[in-house]
Amino acid sequence: MALSRRDLLCKSAAGGASFAAAGLMANCGSNEPMTVEPPTEIPASIDTNASSSTYGQVTVSLTQNSFLTRTGAAVLLRYNVPGSLPFSVPSTGLLLVHRGSPTDQPEWIAVSAVCTHAACFVNYDEVAKNIACPCHDGRYAAKTEGPRCLGDVMSGPQPSPLPAYTVKVDTAKQIVSVDLRTPPACGEGPMMKFQAKVVNNMIELPFAADPAVAELQRVGGQWHGGVVGLADTLVVARVDQTTVIAQSTICTHAGCITQYQTANKNFRCPCHGSVFGLDGRVVAGPAGRAVKVYAATLSADKVTITAS
Ligand code: FES
Ligand code: FES
Repeated sequence: MALSRRDLLCKSAAGGASFAAAGLMANCGSNEPMTVEPPTEIPASIDTNASSSTYGQVTVSLTQNSFLTRTGAAVLLRYNVPGSLPFSVPSTGLLLVHRGSPTDQPEWIAVSAVCTHAACFVNYDEVAKNIACPCHDGRYAAKTEGPRCLGDVMSGPQPSPLPAYTVKVDTAKQIVSVDLRTPPACGEGPMMKFQAKVVNNMIELPFAADPAVAELQRVGGQWHGGVVGLADTLVVARVDQTTVIAQSTICTHAGCITQYQTANKNFRCPCHGSVFGLDGRVVAGPAGRAVKVYAATLSADKVTITAS
């Protein structure tokens, strides 16, 4: 019997093949069309030498991977995550895309490799010029444009954006580096979405800055986002009249994005069901490690978070 590409992908996931190591269980067998191929996969490594100028970076040689010199090419970078890293990284890898050109910026982008819906691997859709999930056709922005940031959800069932990372190119050395400690700036113009920043070790989320931040004014509201100067991506939840909780939103199992659950007052990962308490500790696996919790206070017009 002939198998569709979706069937093969689902069977790979069920059998634990490396391409789909993060899961791909939800809705396998659906008849929705798959519109993108899985990305090519190459091994990579994270520089863990804290005194190195490339600390926290994943570097790719264009000389050794010449297919990446073509505009539109993409690759899945797979690496082992050292247990001692003091910052969170997507444990299932990165999607690196040669998206544009010197006159069509950004020329390169990098995002977490797995969809925030049910952990399928995403790829770049060269025709639509966005990041596509083959499982249920979720779409993410491939550049910051207007009110939308790189990695934001454009359409589909995904609950949250793909974490994005800064990419640098050394044309002389023919090297592309992804900095896992730095999210790309999302812009600061009047049309651009609010970008949180660390200033004097503090992060301020003013309710007036963005409708997404204003969600924190109501009990049950939550905000997700990267923060310039913080090597982590946060979820902030309004738990009750006086309490906000801020913690890393990157699940310690396989890097999916957690969501606050108002009814249970905890944070759940949609990929394989891990649950984290308000104190960051694991309430239910498969995650085996707590997420980092940040001190956060609520005032009349903003939430203030301590960055360390
Ligand atoms: S796994 Fe469902 S849209 Fe990606
Ligand atoms: S990524 Fe598997 S439970 Fe979160």
